[in-house]
Amino acid sequence: MKVLVVGNGGREHAIAWKLGQSQGAEVLITKGNGGTDAVARALPVSPTDIDAVVAAAQSEHVGLVAVGPEAPLAAGLADRLIAAGIPVFGVSAAAARLESSKAFAHEILEAAGVPAARWHVFDHADDALRYVVTCPLPVVVKADGLAAGKGVVVALQREEAVEAVKAFMVDGTLGHAGRRVVVEDFLVGEEASFMVMTDGEHVLPLAGARDHKRVFDDDLGPNTGGMGAYSPTPLLEGEARERVLAGVIRPTLDQLARRGITYRGILYAGLMITAEGPKVLEFNCRFGDPETQPVLSRTRGDLAEAMLACSEGRLDKARLDIERHPAVCVVLASAGYPEQPRTGDVIEGLVEAGAVPGVQVFHAGTRRLPDGTVVTAGGRVLGVTAIGKSFREARERAYEAAGRIRFAGMQYRTDIGKTARG
Ligand code: AMP
Ligand code: GLY
Repeated sequence: MKVLVVGNGGREHAIAWKLGQSQGAEVLITKGNGGTDAVARALPVSPTDIDAVVAAAQSEHVGLVAVGPEAPLAAGLADRLIAAGIPVFGVSAAAARLESSKAFAHEILEAAGVPAARWHVFDHADDALRYVVTCPLPVVVKADGLAAGKGVVVALQREEAVEAVKAFMVDGTLGHAGRRVVVEDFLVGEEASFMVMTDGEHVLPLAGARDHKRVFDDDLGPNTGGMGAYSPTPLLEGEARERVLAGVIRPTLDQLARRGITYRGILYAGLMITAEGPKVLEFNCRFGDPETQPVLSRTRGDLAEAMLACSEGRLDKARLDIERHPAVCVVLASAGYPEQPRTGDVIEGLVEAGAVPGVQVFHAGTRRLPDGTVVTAGGRVLGVTAIGKSFREARERAYEAAGRIRFAGMQYRTDIGKTARG
């Protein structure tokens, strides 16, 4: 069976790599990057060009399309593929609203009785400003729509909250995505990422993970798309895991079903584990990046079969197991990331890094030139992922491999997985 992966970042490299281990799967990918050639055949199709993706899936006679990023899902790619009779692993546009509108997500959470931060939604800048000049601090200002990780400001000072509201709502820095704003109370606790596969009825939970969004060590500096991740986290093991399944995942799916929305694909809950228990920070309608890199590294079983079963509403027949050994993914970012990532720097040491035991180097923003040289082509460049018998071993392997890679301006955090237990 041909499987087409839509997207071309680190998450999609990991998905394509895992799908390549499936029985009889031939993996294709939209565009690809400097590393995906090893596991997938690249098609000259942009992941966000829905017409082109549907046409390519048809002309290649693919048996399954696996969608990575949120934008094509929110724009209706899964709906189009289903209409064309092509099995797809990825949610409908209606279901993707859980990610593409934070106000909609809060409405669902409230109706489902799932704990989250207290929130207010604003359509007018004046009202939002009136609120943020008096509300308790810190406060979190979020653009309602999709903003590729740039739509959340955790404001410690009042001035930052005011600036964020003005930037989103008055200056329109995020375009349409920021015209409506959600302002949330600040939650205190430990973060965890929980991804489940679901066909709307059955739920197949993946390993729990922790992602580090801030650019600098000790979770300092501006938010990024994610500078590293590790799996598992004790916050999502055993009873805690059951609690999130019963208290967050199930009621959310039930509430969507009550509104006629069958949620088929990945449901990703970004959680804050507070003193009062887990609360939802955000939902994503797709695999997390970079959480997918360590999570799929620990997943055993036939991913293509599980995705196909999911797309056909028989996920109860699929089985994926989680490897006991932990995994750590360290993101190597380019100079200037996250504000102004520089591109075109030559990357060296990839082969040497991949030779460290237990290591997979997933490519994100990279490009392979005709002469075989690999250069940087985005902010997050590589996700150096290692599995080991303990977190200590996984960390040592990941950092040993990262140390073998060189490119001008390379930056990475040195504390990924440091506080992980196990
Ligand atoms: P989001 O994209 O909604 O997950 O937000 C990005 C990051 O901002 C999260 O991973 C948290 O670190 C932080 N964050 C978001 N909402 C809150 C909140 N209500 N309280 C505290 N931190 C938050
Ligand atoms: N790592 C967070 C995300 O994928 O949105």
